[in-house]
Amino acid sequence: MTSPTFALGGDLTVNRLGFGAMRLTGKGVWGPPADRDECLRVLRRAVELGVDFIDTADSYGPYVSEDLIRDALHPYDGVVVATKAGLLRTGPDDWTPLGFPAYLRQECEMSLRRLGVDTIELFQLHRIDSKFPAEDQVGELLKLQQEGKIRHIGLSEVTAEQLAAARAVAPIASVQNMYNLTMRAAEPVLDVCESEGIAFIPWFPLAAGPLAASDGPLQRIAADHGASPSQLALAWLLKRSPVMLPIPGTSKVAHLEENVAAARIELTDAEFETLSKAGAAQG
Ligand SMILES: NC(=O)c1ccc[n+]([C@@H]2O[C@H](COP(=O)([O-])OP(=O)(O)OC[C@H]3O[C@@H](n4cnc5c(N)ncnc54)[C@H](OP(=O)(O)O)[C@@H]3O)[C@@H](O)[C@H]2O)c1
Repeated sequence: MTSPTFALGGDLTVNRLGFGAMRLTGKGVWGPPADRDECLRVLRRAVELGVDFIDTADSYGPYVSEDLIRDALHPYDGVVVATKAGLLRTGPDDWTPLGFPAYLRQECEMSLRRLGVDTIELFQLHRIDSKFPAEDQVGELLKLQQEGKIRHIGLSEVTAEQLAAARAVAPIASVQNMYNLTMRAAEPVLDVCESEGIAFIPWFPLAAGPLAASDGPLQRIAADHGASPSQLALAWLLKRSPVMLPIPGTSKVAHLEENVAAARIELTDAEFETLSKAGAAQG
């Protein structure tokens, strides 16, 4: 892969086009995937193609995604596996924040065991739970970091104010918020990440399909460019900021190969502007 790189937390250099492993599960991100063997092939092919940053969470499945990653890739050999804690699962599509610090610790311990590692390279607080002080949640992750159980701490779905408050408690290496060409509400926190050298990991980079659709908003520009719509959506993200680390997800090798190839597309400034305007009009 010829993707540009980013040094996560200043010391973990990864290709900026990563892989999101949430879709390697059943419907509603619940239970096993329909085609387990294809999911294992997706993970191995991603690494063959140069992907070295994989995003997951204990809540994906739950446990299914982490287990698959271990089965496909352990002992990882230079691949950074980032996981998350802080969401309970009670059924398909049900997600409930739980930031009780001892529970976050248990999730970390179980992810260490499930992934078969001594240290989790990037451990992200999936949501700040308003039922507990944010500093206690981030503080528990700081303790885990000091104990060597996690290397870097990340946050997910935070505002610029929440990021600032968390940074007063612990060093924060990454922020993962929903962001794509047509959904840009996270721009204020992206701007902070860019100025502070914090990785910004946009989830939903393809809007779960519509931005990759053959009759979607990117089709005409994509045809002009000789690329697919999903590739343009990803190339736009990569050009948007040097701290941007998209993690498109798929359960199919063909889609993976198409998405990874987006790292080779260099948009001109004019193309970038055209796409920005087209995306804003859709948003
Ligand atoms: N922090 C959070 O709160 C949070 C929330 C959601 C997700 N995430 C993370 O972000 C990652 C990505 O988010 P996401 O999965 O919601 O959205 P996404 O990557 O924008 O979309 C994934 C969906 O798009 C389809 N797709 C992927 N590539 C395609 C292609 N080339 N052509 C056509 N369809 C394609 C996939 O279906 P197929 O399987 O059929 O290819 C999949 O259903 C997740 O895997 C997860 O790691 C984080």
